[in-house]
Amino acid sequence: MTTIHVAGADIDTRHFINGTRVSSEQTFINTSPIDGTFLGEIARGGKAEVDQAVAAAKAAFPQWSALGPQGRGEILHRIADLVEANIETLANLETMDNGSLLRSHRRGVMPRVAHNLRFFADWAINELHHEVFETRGHSNNISWDPSGVAALITPWNAPLMLATWKIGPALAAGDTVVLKPAEWTPLSASYFADLCTQAGLPNGVFNVVQGFGREAGAALTAHPDIARISFTGSVPTAKVIAHAAADNLTPCSFELGGKSPAIVLADADLDLAAELTVEQYDNAGQVCLSGTRILVHEDIADAFAAKFIERASKIKQGDPRDPETDIGPQIHQVHFDRISGFVQRAKDEGANIIMGGSPNTNLGGLYFNPTLIKNPAPGSEIVTAEVFGPVLTMQTFSTDEEAIAMANGTEFGLAAVVVSGNRAHADAITKHLVAGTIWVNCFFVRDLKAPFGGSKKSGVGREGGTWSFDFYADVKNTVVSPNGWKE
Ligand code: NAI
Ligand code: MG
Repeated sequence: MTTIHVAGADIDTRHFINGTRVSSEQTFINTSPIDGTFLGEIARGGKAEVDQAVAAAKAAFPQWSALGPQGRGEILHRIADLVEANIETLANLETMDNGSLLRSHRRGVMPRVAHNLRFFADWAINELHHEVFETRGHSNNISWDPSGVAALITPWNAPLMLATWKIGPALAAGDTVVLKPAEWTPLSASYFADLCTQAGLPNGVFNVVQGFGREAGAALTAHPDIARISFTGSVPTAKVIAHAAADNLTPCSFELGGKSPAIVLADADLDLAAELTVEQYDNAGQVCLSGTRILVHEDIADAFAAKFIERASKIKQGDPRDPETDIGPQIHQVHFDRISGFVQRAKDEGANIIMGGSPNTNLGGLYFNPTLIKNPAPGSEIVTAEVFGPVLTMQTFSTDEEAIAMANGTEFGLAAVVVSGNRAHADAITKHLVAGTIWVNCFFVRDLKAPFGGSKKSGVGREGGTWSFDFYADVKNTVVSPNGWKE
């Protein structure tokens, strides 16, 4: 059986290579985190399928790259039109596959998928200034040339959103693509491939190889014909990929995890602080940007904690298809066990769990209660390692210097939230934070024009706006002399 019917969509379970569907002898099982429903057996690719997909992408490259930004943009906009026409289907499908909220998929995530494609298509046309400047009468002509085949490896927490955040700029830059979606959430990429066909994307420009990281992912990242690797996922996997890329010196863009601080200064509006910190449970805590370490000034810690708990206790956990639900299940039993393990070890060390701390027994399955751990031991696992679940810690500080030292005191540097009632005070803090994105009195405001990425172990490189093209394209400078011209 190569077609499965999920949430109103017909999904081909085979790979998408050179515009056609390709099977593998082996398959893997895909289930829904909502209730464990079996969704289907998915083709499990390895080196053979990767070789085929990379060869197809390589063969499609000359024509696609020659099409130019305008021609590519027209097709990307057609794909975006189809995404918009199918938002309801895509939203339901993604919710079944990864358990994130249906209402967020409908209102925010799937419209953003279309926007990812439109934005980078238009940026390539309008904003990549083929800048010219003079050096002693010579002109420097800067251009962003297509670079070849881009390997895109994506995680399960926001599958199509994160895939198109890479597919958009890669295709707009004139590269061709091989995507390896996460094995827990392969369905939306397969559906998206059908939309690409309907939009008239030439064969081989976009390919999907499904399978496990250590098989399909490893073959793809080690492939000598790959020009770029863009990966979002965990730090250990990024290290493996960096090794695989080293032999070919393939440039890598890594967007990795975090252990971001949410700093509540003594002059903060406590209602806003509670609202913003409780938001860190969104997507059941499976968000790389999540500010999971609440750092609060000691003078307001009790008042803040009271407001936090009042608000957090209203979080409605349940079926992500229910419009009343605020947070759904964790992605997979393996991940659920990983989260439980973190919390258990914190308990064993005597952590003060003031909210949650256990699976939601009313719901059963993969639902873990929103958890707050107060004053964990400095340097302990629960305040240094990325849990990637609905688990926040709360620590207090007494001076700005202490807050900054605590905020910067992990190996990560992805994001930070600062809540303050005084702009100069907020600035004095943000200036010293090591993070790719800092939100002051807000969270998750994200413009595709802005640079996005992580410092320290949270990433390598930046994407967004021209930064994306600096990565996916070959940036070239042609220096032209004023001399030697015959006419
Ligand atoms: P992972 O980093 O292993 O998986 C992400 C992607 O990498 C998947 O598509 C996977 O198949 C692929 N992959 C795995 N091994 C590979 C290899 N050797 N070569 C090429 N590709 C490979 O993440 P996983 O195991 O799903 O989650 C583990 C932890 O990673 C989470 O608990 C969380 O801390 C972090 N994570 C961070 C994300 C982020 O948005 N920054 C997203 C997902 C996970
Ligand atoms: Mg799934």
